[in-house]
Amino acid sequence: MFLRTFIVHCAISLSLGLASNWDGLEQDLDLDLSNVAKLQVQFGGKGEILEVDLGKEIALNQVQQEPEITFEPESGANYTLIMVDPDAPSRKKPVAREWLHWLMVDIPGANIKAGKVITSFNPSGPPARSGFHRYVFMLFKQSSSLKNLKRIRTRRGFKVTKFMEDNGLGNTPVAANFYITQRA
Ligand SMILES: *[C@@H]1O[C@H](CO)[C@@H](O)[C@H](O)[C@H]1NC(C)=O
Repeated sequence: MFLRTFIVHCAISLSLGLASNWDGLEQDLDLDLSNVAKLQVQFGGKGEILEVDLGKEIALNQVQQEPEITFEPESGANYTLIMVDPDAPSRKKPVAREWLHWLMVDIPGANIKAGKVITSFNPSGPPARSGFHRYVFMLFKQSSSLKNLKRIRTRRGFKVTKFMEDNGLGNTPVAANFYITQRA
């Protein structure tokens, strides 16, 4: 019975392309990511495309430019994109959790560039010898326009679940992804 449930579960997960290993992010962000699809995020190097792949390490110097985000939008929907580092200033002692790296709202469909920037893209800049940091991208479907949202002045101590609650973004992102990097 257990085995059968397990097999069915695996089959469903595979068919939806769901991610399973979130490396502690569910606990650390207080989010249920079990039904969340993998968001396509790519950093472009010199003639090289680097794909963000669920916790795979990417060198710090390869993640300094704003990445390309691609997804299949629902027709007529607006989206919010959030990038945070829960490991600020270190995963061992994350007293500045979560550090807000990027926040865009009112993205019409998948046209990221046409969205409204609330907090501009700030590339990964982990302190030296603070170990690996997880950098997480989350995409949310909005239930209404967020054009009246105020600027967020401080990147430190952002709380994605509070932001979701305050702005009607539902219980989970529709898609997410993350990479890890460190400063040697
Ligand atoms: C999407 O955002 C635009 C710009 O704020 C707004 O005019 C439109 O009503 C929004 N659409 C939905 C479905 O919320």
